[in-house]
Amino acid sequence: MKRILVTGGAGFIGSAVVRQLIDETEATVINADALTYAGNLESLGPARDHPRHRFEQVDIRDRAAVERLFRDHRPDAVMHLAAESHVDRSIEGPAAFVETNVTGTQNLLEAARAHWEGFEGAARDRFRFHHVSTDEVYGDLGPDEPPFSEQTPYAPSSPYSASKAASDHLVRAWHQTYGLPILITNCSNNYGPYQFPEKLIPLMILNAVEGRSLPVYGNGENIRDWLYVEDHARALRLVLENGRVGRTYNIGGRCERANLKVVQTVCQILNRLCPHPDYAYERLIEFVPDRPGHDRRYAIDDSRIARELGWAPKESFESGLEKTVQWYLDNQQWLDRVRTGEYRAWMETNYRHRVMEK
Ligand code: NAD
Ligand code: TYD
Repeated sequence: MKRILVTGGAGFIGSAVVRQLIDETEATVINADALTYAGNLESLGPARDHPRHRFEQVDIRDRAAVERLFRDHRPDAVMHLAAESHVDRSIEGPAAFVETNVTGTQNLLEAARAHWEGFEGAARDRFRFHHVSTDEVYGDLGPDEPPFSEQTPYAPSSPYSASKAASDHLVRAWHQTYGLPILITNCSNNYGPYQFPEKLIPLMILNAVEGRSLPVYGNGENIRDWLYVEDHARALRLVLENGRVGRTYNIGGRCERANLKVVQTVCQILNRLCPHPDYAYERLIEFVPDRPGHDRRYAIDDSRIARELGWAPKESFESGLEKTVQWYLDNQQWLDRVRTGEYRAWMETNYRHRVMEK
């Protein structure tokens, strides 16, 4: 692939994909991102100024701007990561999730289809539209149920996961109806450097370091499967290069952990890396009212991607988490940049009522 259009390349996972594509391939990367609160070009590191990296500030809700993107850059492949991505925000304000995740995806599909239909021969055969999605589309898993496979029926619980499920269905329909050569991946919870500190792991690291409470929703028994972001980016590149057209691949970390256990592990690492003189960080853990519609468990059966493409995660949770904590301790400048007024307003919206209701 010579020219890859990455949407959402200034976000957490998108920036990891762009950094890898620049560092490890010869591809030109067209990075299209609206730079919402979650997007930050500093997350690209040296890739930002690389001659093979082209940034376009584009909102995928803007159909004309999306069409222009394809005309101007003529990509051989699309990796679509741009999305509103935080479940709690989707509960407070679902409209943006439908607009970006559903309508935005439809805009991309239509522009990609027109672009692909203009190709002939090898270029037409080579083109791919890779849609990056989540395991949350499969919904709530009971403690003894088998992990999600690619055959698990969709049953999303939150406005976020419903909007991602809708976008997955659109992508599949564009393949079935128009023959667009698509790939879909559904991945479990990612963690690692550059994750916006509204998500569980970076939020807990920062709150602990700043002496604030560590708000665990409900009883902390909800289970997520955790994958280090660089392992996810590697999986995405493999699927793009070698995945079978029209197919879905589940990607997971083989690492199910209850939320309370994750928070305790973050505390243990911090107790070692930057001990507080007066107390162990676990003392800051506070149980707060639950998220409505909170899925109890996610778990992934990754046997298809393992078997067909030879992928397996490289990073263990313990080593990945330690690297992540160290990264947040070392990168105050990035944190100052992303924690704008909007971030403070969000923290107020999401946590004030939880603490007051207790
Ligand atoms: P993120 O919130 O960190 O980044 C999203 C990026 O999309 C940001 O840079 C933002 O500016 C951009 N964006 C948002 N709305 C846009 C719009 N209308 N037009 C153009 N750009 C827009 O999200 P992330 O965690 O990096 O997730 C990336 C993708 O991976 C998403 O599609 C998400 O559903 C999926 N995913 C995430 C996880 C996870 O654990 N974070 C797991 C599985 C799948
Ligand atoms: P999150 O990082 O928001 O990812 P997702 O909801 O997409 O899985 O949350 C991960 C888990 O952590 C989820 O079960 C909700 C829980 N959680 C808390 O307990 N406290 C918090 O402050 C946050 C943000 C999440």
